[in-house]
Amino acid sequence: RLDVTEMFNGISFPGHLHTQESLELALKFPFLDTDILIVSYPKSGTTWMQEMVSLISSRGDPHLIQTVPNWARAPWLEQYYCAAVLETSSTVPRVITTHLPHHLLGPALQGSRAKVIYVSRNPKDVVVSFYHFHKMANFLPDAGTFTEFLNRFLEGTLCFGSWFDHIKGWTSQTATVNNLLHITYEEMLLDLHGAIKRVSSFLQCPLVDEEVNNCVQHCSFSTMKNNKMVNYTMVPDDIMDHSKGSFMRKGKTGDWKNMFTEEQNQYFESTFKSKMQDCTLEFVWE
Ligand code: PPS
Repeated sequence: RLDVTEMFNGISFPGHLHTQESLELALKFPFLDTDILIVSYPKSGTTWMQEMVSLISSRGDPHLIQTVPNWARAPWLEQYYCAAVLETSSTVPRVITTHLPHHLLGPALQGSRAKVIYVSRNPKDVVVSFYHFHKMANFLPDAGTFTEFLNRFLEGTLCFGSWFDHIKGWTSQTATVNNLLHITYEEMLLDLHGAIKRVSSFLQCPLVDEEVNNCVQHCSFSTMKNNKMVNYTMVPDDIMDHSKGSFMRKGKTGDWKNMFTEEQNQYFESTFKSKMQDCTLEFVWE
């Protein structure tokens, strides 16, 4: 069965692509100072950042993003094929992706100068996107009703663990990460041009205007939705059921308003308030 999960350090991971061994190996990963690490809780803009980083490294030339699937140019550290992908690629810098929380991956990064890009998104939109994704992804457990799913999100028992621990771990001042850029999905949507400039300058890869414009064009939602190297349509139906939805679903902010009832919203708000007491980050809820 595809939807069996793997428990690791108290967090469940999809059994698909994740093994105890691949998870163990991730925690001991020897990062290079030249590595670029994209970190996110699922459904926060991971794929979008993978595309952005690939385009910035290619100075806006779309050849790479149109010929190599995202998982092969920015593999997930915790998935079992990662080591093989990195071994066969000679690209410098290496681009690596992860959904692991800081309390698991932080030690491997300690002392490293690897560049970490942390992408976050309004958690109300994250939970809605994740819910729809569970419906099409046969490798994830049954989503149940939205109320049940929201409860599991808020208690931190969905695959990849607690959103609250994830964001607080990676963004806290005491996080053991030297080089970290925190960027939000909302910022990328509001000003893609500015976001690309921010990321390219963090990566020390300044681009001229025309190159930035090419990046903007190729990582817009409509272009990515039609790029089979990144829209997951190449994944067979038994793994992702394309009749039940699409990975590039809406690409908007504020979709939670179409899903949350007043009662769910109140429950969310009160849980958020208590779990985020020690966090000063501000969120865009619209
Ligand atoms: S995953 O499974 O964790 O890798 O998913 P992730 O890539 O983090 O998140 C998927 C959501 O990001 C949206 N997306 C985009 N939005 C705007 N512009 C662009 N270019 C873009 N690319 C991906 C995608 O549609 C998912 O959000 P929802 O709300 O479900 O549409």
